[in-house]
Amino acid sequence: MTSNQPGLGEPLKLPCGATLPNRLAKAAMTEGLADPWLRATERHQRLYRLWSEGGAGLLLTGNVMIDRRVLERPGNVAIDGNGGLSMLESWARAGTSAGNQLWMQISHAGRQSPRYVTRQPLAPSDVQLKLAGNYARPRAVSEDEIQDFIGRFGRVAGIAKQTGFTGVQVHGAHGYLLSSFLSPVTNRRTDRWGGSLENRARFLLEAVRRVRSTVGPDFPVAVKLNSADFQKGGFDENDCLQVVEWLNDEGIDLLEISGGNYEQPRLLGYSGREETAAEGAETRQSTREREAYFLDFAAKVRAVRKMPLMVTGGFRSRTVMEDALASGDADVIGLGRPLCTDPDVPLRLLSRELDTAPRYESSIRLGTGVWGGNSSVFLLKLVNVLGQQGWYYQQIMRLADGKSADPRMPILIALGRYLTDEWSTAARMKR
Ligand SMILES: Cc1cc2nc3c(=O)[nH]c(=O)nc-3n(C[C@H](O)[C@H](O)[C@H](O)COP(=O)(O)O)c2cc1C
Repeated sequence: MTSNQPGLGEPLKLPCGATLPNRLAKAAMTEGLADPWLRATERHQRLYRLWSEGGAGLLLTGNVMIDRRVLERPGNVAIDGNGGLSMLESWARAGTSAGNQLWMQISHAGRQSPRYVTRQPLAPSDVQLKLAGNYARPRAVSEDEIQDFIGRFGRVAGIAKQTGFTGVQVHGAHGYLLSSFLSPVTNRRTDRWGGSLENRARFLLEAVRRVRSTVGPDFPVAVKLNSADFQKGGFDENDCLQVVEWLNDEGIDLLEISGGNYEQPRLLGYSGREETAAEGAETRQSTREREAYFLDFAAKVRAVRKMPLMVTGGFRSRTVMEDALASGDADVIGLGRPLCTDPDVPLRLLSRELDTAPRYESSIRLGTGVWGGNSSVFLLKLVNVLGQQGWYYQQIMRLADGKSADPRMPILIALGRYLTDEWSTAARMKR
């Protein structure tokens, strides 16, 4: 790296005028910590104070829902006429205590809302998730509902600004409502919200436009977008590049590239051809390709985008992060799972005390592979994917309760606690 290439500690001035103090971002991670009325709690404050002190220049909250009927998970915070503004203010104060940025991720779960949360998910078309019957067939939303949701994206962004969050991110990835409109697999509409890519992207673009007009020109607005949904006939990389070109005209401050959805969880690196530990040792792929699985695609985005680019997914070694910045393929590095157990990872990477962030996902599994490899039995895959998810959720809850993480927690214990927590939280919800 030469001296004029940005390092991890280099500030980044955004198009709106705000500055990120460094190039590390804590990626959005759903917290599941809301009270029964879906309002933020003291546990959010404790967790985000810890992450703020952990050194990332930018913290993205987990999904904050614009519609309390359709949640991604019980325990989501929703902003939908349910009060709780003073708790949002306290959350924002705690999450910015070290002088970092804290942006609220604004989202509608769409069809990816489990049965124990909602019996009637909403989607562009009535295409049900193929996941063990845990997701009910969604109802296709009407034109009026789409207009209502566009208004809600704007209103919730306004509340984020009013309560002290320093920016917002519109969640257009991972198969939730906006992302499901982008994909021809889930969007079979024949009106002006379906069909051509221009029509499928209309909801995202109008939501972003409404957010920008609500918060004004000086407030950071980001978008999280899938590179692809990795499904036959679905939203693909060329579609993504075209949507990026359209977003160029919308005054975006940061574009985050991720990928996949519940049926294809590529966001976490599960590819359906994941190598076993032994195969991994023999792989000829470079560390860059193995680790940061959206980085090669980000290089293509770089050629068309006008806004700064954040890439999230798999980054663990400092050299891969530094190279990504030096090559210009990323302007900001997103980190998720390492911060569930080690909230100070950004500080330690910045001080060069740490060369590699923890990668527990390779050890918390039953059998030799998580998704493919030898463990091709469906049940084992399911236990591994859900168990890992539960494991990270449990670590976040421990941090929020003022405990330290428990990296030795067995996957089956994590899975049991996770399911018990989800169902009991769902039963307590007052919507
Ligand atoms: C526990 C957990 C919760 C997550 N919740 C969200 C979320 O609310 N919104 C989102 O956009 N991505 C979410 N993600 C995906 C992360 O933002 C990120 O894309 C993913 O973890 C890959 O980055 P990593 O390899 O650094 O963990 C979540 C991931 C994990 C592990």
